[in-house]
Amino acid sequence: MRKKVVFIGAGGYAKSVLDSLDTQHFEFCGFIDSFKPVGTLHFGFPILAEAIEEFEARDQYAYFICIGNNDHRLDKFLRLKRLNCEIINVIDKSAIIASHTTLGVGVFVGKMAIINSGVTVGDNVIINTKALVEHGCRVGNHSNISTNTTLNGDVIVEDFCFVGSSSVITGQLRIGEGGIVGAGAVVIRNVDARTVVAGVPAKFIKEIQS
Ligand SMILES: CC(C)(COP(=O)(O)OP(=O)(O)OC[C@H]1O[C@@H](n2cnc3c(N)ncnc32)[C@H](O)[C@@H]1OP(=O)(O)O)[C@@H](O)C(=O)NCCC(=O)NCCS
Repeated sequence: MRKKVVFIGAGGYAKSVLDSLDTQHFEFCGFIDSFKPVGTLHFGFPILAEAIEEFEARDQYAYFICIGNNDHRLDKFLRLKRLNCEIINVIDKSAIIASHTTLGVGVFVGKMAIINSGVTVGDNVIINTKALVEHGCRVGNHSNISTNTTLNGDVIVEDFCFVGSSSVITGQLRIGEGGIVGAGAVVIRNVDARTVVAGVPAKFIKEIQS
């Protein structure tokens, strides 16, 4: 029997995730989204509740969080965990995941993404369309590796990082916790925690104030 699935978040990213859901094993049933009226249809499926706490039938479903923003995705992840809800992974059928790879829960691997051998991916992580995560990389919890990004061999991306589209992180570097890499950057040095870098080669832009 197919597992019934509900997505948290019904925005544009949810559309990509829905397209990648393995419908042989999962039956998609609708969304939970606090910005859309309950009962309205999105991509042909209903908004079932505004929040997981208000969704009375929640024990009957498994969940996937379709929110790109790391802070908001973390908030929903913690709320699902607090309620003992099951969280699935969504891996597009065109993605390539090598052997000896470890994935957490709540992981999205988009179309034509490649995760090579010996990679560890944490919980609640986005490996978006056409991203390449080379051998031996570690991607921390709640991080977002955007479309067409290349993480060369043995790169460490710590928790809560955002790596912008089409950027290249050359081998054996570390992106510190909460670090942000601008779109199109070529990163040739370690990036400090809570720091934004951008450009070719990537340069310091600013520190992130909390
Ligand atoms: C790096 C980034 C996060 C910075 O955003 P921000 O904090 O709003 O910064 P600002 O737009 O105020 O720009 C600050 C400075 O950085 C420069 N900058 C911003 N993004 C840059 C980039 N990608 N490459 C080079 N320089 C960049 C700006 O020109 C500006 O320079 P200045 O101070 O000399 O004028 C953002 O520009 C970015 O690249 N986001 C990635 C988007 C993306 O890939 N989304 C993926 C969707 S799947």
